[in-house]
Amino acid sequence: MGLNIQEIRNDFPVLAEEIYGKPLVYLDNAATTHKPVSVIEAEANVYRRFNSNVHRGVHHLSNICTQAFEEVRKKVASFINAASTEEIIFTKGTTESINLLSASFGETFFSEGDEVILTQMEHHSNIVPWQLLQKRKGISIQVVPVTDNGELDMDTFEKLFSPKTKLVSITHISNVLGTINPIEKIIAIAHAHDVPVVIDGAQAIHHLPVNVQQLDCDFYVFSGHKMYAPTGVGVLYGKRKWLEKMVPYQGGGEMIDKVSFSGTTFNELPYKFEAGTPNFAGVIALGRAIDYLKEKGLSDIWDYEHALFEYASEKISEVPNLRIIGKATGRTSVISFLLGSSHPFDVGTLLDKLGFALRTGHHCAQPLMDCYGIPGTVRASFAFYNTKSEIDQLVEALMRVEAMLG
Ligand code: ALA
Repeated sequence: MGLNIQEIRNDFPVLAEEIYGKPLVYLDNAATTHKPVSVIEAEANVYRRFNSNVHRGVHHLSNICTQAFEEVRKKVASFINAASTEEIIFTKGTTESINLLSASFGETFFSEGDEVILTQMEHHSNIVPWQLLQKRKGISIQVVPVTDNGELDMDTFEKLFSPKTKLVSITHISNVLGTINPIEKIIAIAHAHDVPVVIDGAQAIHHLPVNVQQLDCDFYVFSGHKMYAPTGVGVLYGKRKWLEKMVPYQGGGEMIDKVSFSGTTFNELPYKFEAGTPNFAGVIALGRAIDYLKEKGLSDIWDYEHALFEYASEKISEVPNLRIIGKATGRTSVISFLLGSSHPFDVGTLLDKLGFALRTGHHCAQPLMDCYGIPGTVRASFAFYNTKSEIDQLVEALMRVEAMLG
């Protein structure tokens, strides 16, 4: 059917903003996406009409709010095809989801000397929580190297398994290279060793359809703010068989069954992992963002964004002295690059003055930067509201920047 991009752009008020008197060209979508009016309204509407704490009151507003909140759990479960809503835990975002896993799965299943397999292309949020577990429990971290063109070294991956391997935790799509990792294969290999797998879907969930039962991943985590929903809300999907055994993450209201000073028992799934008042307004708006994505259709979104990415990759290569970092065969939505010997920060600053929003730096992936021997990159990352015309403008701006700095 195809997407009507102008209509989509009209849904995102911020895209009409001007920066230093120039139209905004927003190409920092891997850091966070903008929000359509319907999502902004959905969150505002909670505060306007039925703000009330969830699961805690018998009064009307609390019931409405609880119902709206739990409807979103159903929407999320259906969006990723989870087997049940009890497998959907609301968190603050991907980072909290992984911290929950390192704390709770780590506490329950890891002993000293056990191993977790990560990769060289992980975001810090899928490295540091495991390093904290390493400190607490004396576990060891095995790292899958990345090849020059930005793919995982799958031969080494297979060799990293040992009887001590307890978990593989890996990104679906790299936030720096755009590499789409072969997660089906990775999950199959790990399961052949009886090892569960966590997929960090922060950069994938809004670009391509995810079916957790078909993937057979044990955990899948993502953030709302990268999928057109508000900040401060995210999801941990986990297979019930793991979640049931895992010890609680945080203690507080909602996650309990009965509390006494002689001993406390815990609530059932998913509430066991949802201590304290959740970001219910954010969750309800996340539900609206899912509706929005479904209305547009993830497969049309993929077709459009991927074509845009291929166009951008080709056009951007025409800029003199521009080097793309990461050229995996399967990649999408993100292009990292360096311009001659210019520092990424200088390139980003000049682009900013021309109205372009791109991210510069290490992108919270310092081990990957070390692997390429660079301090950082400039990164353009795309969403379905970006256009070929914006890419052409970027290429023209990069030519100017190159001439200035070169
Ligand atoms: N993880 C986000 C990024 O890659 C913040 O920019």
